[in-house]
Amino acid sequence: MAPLFIQAATIMSTPRLAWAITGSGHYIEECVEFMLSLDHVDLYLSQAGEEVLKMYDIPLTELKNRMPVYRDKAASAPPVGLFYKGYYHTLVMAPTTSNTIAKCTLGIADSLATNLYAQAGKCRVNSIVYPCDSAPEIETTAPGKRKFMVYPRPIELEATDKLRSFPYTEVVNDVDQLIASVTYRLKQL
Ligand SMILES: Cc1cc2nc3c(=O)[nH]c(=O)nc-3n(C[C@H](O)[C@H](O)[C@H](O)COP(=O)(O)O)c2cc1C
Repeated sequence: MAPLFIQAATIMSTPRLAWAITGSGHYIEECVEFMLSLDHVDLYLSQAGEEVLKMYDIPLTELKNRMPVYRDKAASAPPVGLFYKGYYHTLVMAPTTSNTIAKCTLGIADSLATNLYAQAGKCRVNSIVYPCDSAPEIETTAPGKRKFMVYPRPIELEATDKLRSFPYTEVVNDVDQLIASVTYRLKQL
């Protein structure tokens, strides 16, 4: 095993981006396509995220060939300790379910994705969050590419708005904003 100072130097010289996918099909294909265009990304999946990827015909094996993938299999979310080692410069959560957004706004950290957001905040690491409930009427895509309308309720819109006020957090409303925001962030580093 390498001495501690070498491990630390290696970790600090290669800060990475943590990307979390939750169980939302909202523009999930576009989010994954953009994520795959980036370097130095670690992918985190909620349990529902893993299921939904499959439903949208996005094979986990292909993602695993491209980047480290962390699945939600443990109660204590062990990999989030990496935030405390300076391993990540940014967390991106895209797409993000109503469920995960609601928990994040309440400070709940009981899954891999909600732990990532909580620990990123506690380590003052910037998060860019793309919620599925960004407007009162939104077009989205079901598995099989069928488009349909969704009308988020006040409780979901309020949660999205509440998250906008959280420190170290940028909430984006669509995929174009997501791409612009992540690209800008990467240029800032
Ligand atoms: C095909 C499919 C698409 C879904 N899309 C969404 C979505 O866009 N937004 C949402 O809030 N929930 C969506 N869900 C439901 C979530 O996956 C479910 O609420 C899950 O418990 C969320 O868990 P997570 O927040 O830990 O990922 C979808 C479920 C399925 C089967």
